[in-house]
Amino acid sequence: MQTATSTNIYQLTEEQLAVRDAAREFAQELWAGVIERDDHQKFPTEQVKKMGELGFMGMMVSPEYGGSGLDTVSYVLAMEEISKVDASCSVIMSVNNSLVCWGLEHYGTEEQKQKYLPRLCSGEIIGAFALSEPEAGSDATSQRTTAEDMGDHYLLNGTKNWITNGTTASVYLVIAQTNPELKSRGINVLIVDKDMPGFIQGPKENKLGIRGSDTCSLMFTDVKVPKENRIGADGFGFKFAMQVLAGGRIGIAAQALGIASGSLELSLKYAKERKAFGVEIAKHQAIQFKLADMATNVDAARMLCLQAAADKDNHDDYAKSGAMAKLFASKVAMDSAVEAVQIHGGYGFVKEYHVERFMRDAKITQIYEGTSEIQKIVISREILK
Ligand code: CAA
Repeated sequence: MQTATSTNIYQLTEEQLAVRDAAREFAQELWAGVIERDDHQKFPTEQVKKMGELGFMGMMVSPEYGGSGLDTVSYVLAMEEISKVDASCSVIMSVNNSLVCWGLEHYGTEEQKQKYLPRLCSGEIIGAFALSEPEAGSDATSQRTTAEDMGDHYLLNGTKNWITNGTTASVYLVIAQTNPELKSRGINVLIVDKDMPGFIQGPKENKLGIRGSDTCSLMFTDVKVPKENRIGADGFGFKFAMQVLAGGRIGIAAQALGIASGSLELSLKYAKERKAFGVEIAKHQAIQFKLADMATNVDAARMLCLQAAADKDNHDDYAKSGAMAKLFASKVAMDSAVEAVQIHGGYGFVKEYHVERFMRDAKITQIYEGTSEIQKIVISREILK
């Protein structure tokens, strides 16, 4: 299918193109009910189940653990396609893939991988990643949640905020402070099951965007977490968080890219249909200039996303390229969605035309998995090294 912008700039392989096409085909199913899910903050249960069946919930996990065994480039392509229609579905997918599955597969014990990955990949269960706190968002080393070492278990106490998949997950990777004198080197990451006594999930937040996905606070009161649920060595938790977030940012960059390219595609369609001053509005330069800017930005964002994904696949350092992709693509998402609303005029302001939802959804891509300001910190540290 012909698209408005270049999609094969990286000479994608047959397999990568097939993944993109499969995601594009699946994404068409997401249009049904997307406005209702957004209106009522309805979690896309059926859609997530189907994403599991199609292999989108554990895309980069080895088939040995039930995953699709694909590369990060394929993941970026699928994230873009799904985000073009429903960014709520894609954030659920992104957290499960990049933060939970990737973290478990790369740093978990064999037992942890066997126990959780097959069900996470199939969509039978969903995972969540719990780092942010009421007073530790960007300043992630200031963890107040404590994991006191009790010999054979940790005693977990504290509160986490803004947790994606918070009410629907069955397994949570929780970052907590064990040894405050050691600062970031005293932090651990623990696997917490939903039904552990003392663990409760707060009510769903009433959000501006990505309303189909659920976000909530988590409260831990004397939760006994067995020692075997720790991922990595004692004190590895902060590095773990930084590593998974570096990859997670590529997923969110691709989500932002999808919101931008979705905004462009709907705008192109509308501009060719809608007439004003006797001709289709696409014939007016005022609209053409907007479309040209959007298409240029979408292509540039896609190049950065694919570059970061290729860096990760080639085992090159991807902290900088991932942060650049997220910084740029999230701005392009916001700008493109605002322009899409403008191009649609009054129709852009009502739900049936979807672009107002894209505009609301775009904003979070500049906030979660590190604000745009955090991405600039990561990039500037790398280039000043
Ligand atoms: N990989 C490995 N280690 C890393 C790393 C990386 N990419 N980045 C930092 N580290 C290590 C450092 O080397 C350092 O280790 P040593 O102590 O051994 O030297 C340690 O981590 C601490 O690093 P810094 O001193 O650089 O830490 P800092 O306090 O200056 O903070 C920061 C750095 C980049 C600002 C970081 O705090 C950060 O990324 N903050 C944003 C957090 C974030 O993205 N939150 C989003 C929440 S998750 C989410 O949104 C998910 C969702 O629901 C969708």
